[in-house]
Amino acid sequence: MIVANWKMHLGVRESVALAKTTLLALQGKDIAPQVVLLPSFCALESVHKVLARSRVALGAQNVGPDRFGAYTGEVGMGQLLDVGCSYVLIGHSERRHHFCEGDELLRKKLAMLMHEKQLLRPIVCVGELLEERDAGQAIAVTTRMLRRILASVDIPRGVPLPLLAYEPVWAIGTAEQPSIAEILPVVRALRNEMETLFPNHGTASVLYGGSVSAENAYVLLREPDIAGVLVGGASIKPQEFQNILAAAREVLTYQSS
Ligand code: PGA
Repeated sequence: MIVANWKMHLGVRESVALAKTTLLALQGKDIAPQVVLLPSFCALESVHKVLARSRVALGAQNVGPDRFGAYTGEVGMGQLLDVGCSYVLIGHSERRHHFCEGDELLRKKLAMLMHEKQLLRPIVCVGELLEERDAGQAIAVTTRMLRRILASVDIPRGVPLPLLAYEPVWAIGTAEQPSIAEILPVVRALRNEMETLFPNHGTASVLYGGSVSAENAYVLLREPDIAGVLVGGASIKPQEFQNILAAAREVLTYQSS
């Protein structure tokens, strides 16, 4: 899975153009990854029209914790479903650090999404700060984050586990990245934690995010433990994003041969 987080970078016209370029890059390809585009709220409807009847999915970068109501400036799940979203990011570090989203709010958002049986499938982001990484705390910190926001959430029977994204905070937008040898133990620990918390919901999938580029995508994606990548900066550079899609196709082609 390749998730493109366009953040607050693009206007509506630019978002539509980039969505069209993405569709063109996948056109006629039998083997292709699941691609999810996350435009800003105001571009969702226009991008949805471009993606309609394609195999590329639409998602939002955030959602409010309530279904409806007097919440000025908030966007709710029903509204995101109306404009064709099927995924939503929960707990991205930029939401946590710039907008003070804490565990309790994130827990409330997840409880709401689960109660609605994940009509909107969450991609839950966790990641450690640089000082926590340097202190050898990446696994302890990220598994604790997961427990804090998910432990008391009830996942209804038959509903799959939320997707997870391991995004070290110090690797986001910095062109720095942990080595694969550092990433894999965290990804495996998160998967185990999730499957221990929710034993009857099948296997958990963990994406990696943080300075994913055309240069490093193949090495990440060929790891069977990494279910995909969450791409920020490189996802708004059309050629680079196409190269990331090509890397994913190469891995899938190799795996299916
Ligand atoms: P980046 O962002 O790829 O620019 O590091 C990733 C993210 O914020 O999800």
